[in-house]
Amino acid sequence: MNKVLITNIAKYVGQEIELNGWVANFRSSGKIAFWQIRDGSGFCQAILDVKVLSEEKWQEAQKVTLESSVKIIGVVAKHPKKEEYELQVKDFSFYQIAKEYPISKKDHGPDFLLDNRHLWLRSSHQWAIQRIRNTLILATYEYFNQNNFIKIDSPILTPSACEGTTELFELEYFGDKAYLSQSGQLYLEAAIMAHGKVFDFGPVFRAEKSKTRRHLTEFWMMDAEMAFADLEENMRVQEELVRYMVKSVLEKNMQELAILERDIKPLENILKPFYKITHAEAVKKLHELGSDIKEDDDMGADDETILTKQYDNPIFVTHYPKGVKAFYMKRDPKNDSRVLCADLLAPEGYGEIIGGSQREDNFDELRKRIEEFKPKQSAFSAQGGPASGWEWYLDLRKYGSVPHSGFGFGLERITAWVCGIAHVRETIPFPRTINRLNP
Ligand code: 4AD
Ligand code: MG
Repeated sequence: MNKVLITNIAKYVGQEIELNGWVANFRSSGKIAFWQIRDGSGFCQAILDVKVLSEEKWQEAQKVTLESSVKIIGVVAKHPKKEEYELQVKDFSFYQIAKEYPISKKDHGPDFLLDNRHLWLRSSHQWAIQRIRNTLILATYEYFNQNNFIKIDSPILTPSACEGTTELFELEYFGDKAYLSQSGQLYLEAAIMAHGKVFDFGPVFRAEKSKTRRHLTEFWMMDAEMAFADLEENMRVQEELVRYMVKSVLEKNMQELAILERDIKPLENILKPFYKITHAEAVKKLHELGSDIKEDDDMGADDETILTKQYDNPIFVTHYPKGVKAFYMKRDPKNDSRVLCADLLAPEGYGEIIGGSQREDNFDELRKRIEEFKPKQSAFSAQGGPASGWEWYLDLRKYGSVPHSGFGFGLERITAWVCGIAHVRETIPFPRTINRLNP
């Protein structure tokens, strides 16, 4: 007997198969019962007929409950009208008859669902989101593999801050202090001097106090870094990568996008070139849209929302004021108050999905930046002392320094946009936020 997954069921029309899954829904007319089965790979209807089953089995079938786990033996048939397949049940047995399932069809509040995240993962929306997330992960590995990048795993326990000191998780490290990584970038800058083009992909941590729809305290970041690449090339690679990722979802996940009722038109625009505007141009546009953002301000979440609602494809915002960006970004040689950076914003109100820049590659300039950053940094450096803990990073500018650039995406932000859902917490299997560590 073939043990078959629903995703492959079309190949078995007319044949008897074994299917293992859970009962996601059921109804009965008294003589015939319909069970909607999900097995992780898809959904299919099983038809139980009083005339086909033994009396004893038919009685057993009356015990079914939502989420009961079953083994079914049946014959595959194609739905007369739709591209769907059904199973005419010959025999079945329960692995377990589920207790009353807490999640029902009625609208539950987000807190209830998040408290029951271990069960909520099974619902069709959540199933679709994780499948799309998986495609985005695979597409990332594929793109980099096809473009001569190698994967370098950066550490999670680190001696100092990468991005900002206010969002660090600190922990005891054998009588010293250590910090959970905010981004693997600095380590990738070392690795490019050995491998040219590299990426990492793993969990990073930010002790974000913000309770917004786009902030998690633990999320998955992909950092990429390239030797001999300037800001333009950095943006070209990001555009190609994001296009590749979204195209993969459109090729593999139409069923999931339909479950999520995602309008796919904005995703199909991904084939067109992305927009590019400078921070100064964005500020001008934002003023027209009613924002009171100042020339030297960072773009707030609200600014990103109103700006990106104007667009139908991702937008690079370049050349931010130096004061709002990280110490490692290279200054614009044409305007010292700006840095050679770009944030990639997703359209439709979503906002930042990627942060990236050309890096400062000159030893003296970088040391100056670290010195400026030092008052904040030294308190957050395990070794203590001026610029200490940073010698290794400065070394990279001493031994064969090269122009280089890189970027990092937040997987949950991209997944939220592609899925068309409001909050990043649904895009990660077990979200961690300022007020949630459970389950
Ligand atoms: O813009 P960020 O802070 O950039 C960096 O960390 C760089 N070192 C990356 C690099 O150049 N290699 O973070 C990168 C991305 C953001 O664009 C956003 O998508 C995501 O990480 N992100 C978050 N996602 C969820 N929750 C948070 N608290 C996030 N903070 C950043
Ligand atoms: Mg950023």
